[in-house]
Amino acid sequence: MPKYIILVGLMGTGKSAVARRLAGDGIALLDTDRLVEKSAGCTVREIFADKGEETFRVLEEQALATCLLHPDRAVIAAAGGVVTRETNRTALNSARSRGDAWVVWLHTDPEELVRRVAKGVHRPLLDGDPAGTLAKLDAERGPMYGQVADLLVDTTGKPLDEVTAEVLGEYAARFGEWGATNG
Ligand code: S3P
Repeated sequence: MPKYIILVGLMGTGKSAVARRLAGDGIALLDTDRLVEKSAGCTVREIFADKGEETFRVLEEQALATCLLHPDRAVIAAAGGVVTRETNRTALNSARSRGDAWVVWLHTDPEELVRRVAKGVHRPLLDGDPAGTLAKLDAERGPMYGQVADLLVDTTGKPLDEVTAEVLGEYAARFGEWGATNG
């Protein structure tokens, strides 16, 4: 059975919240944004402001690579932009073909995302025009998420418990029980 469940999808689709519910009891919780912040010693917003998006993307690539070296079982919340780099898509697909990773794409209707991301402080890309940007990113990145995903879960209008149950149910149907959760 794959030792990692990796959650991908746009900002606000619930990756971090679902990841928290799938972790616990010996299953690590890894989040590329948190690893980037740890290695840079500052917040995602500060990296974008002081060093630019390109520097952020380099750190993000390193963070994903670190996640994919984790020796034990883990849930990995991969930030929304991870799939924009081909290196990252290749790394995700290698982990899938080794049988190490099962990748779930959380997709939410962009109009609902606009309401959900209103509070996000680590999302400088949404500062100007969140609705326009999210609609654009949804169209641009959709095919990239599709290239790395084993499963697509539509989270539009769904509470977290339902999304978590769907992910766990699909995992169990393929590989057996994932294990205890925080949910
Ligand atoms: C980004 C998503 C954010 C964060 C940064 C850029 C993106 O993470 O990495 O603001 O390009 O989609 P979440 O997907 O966890 O919000």
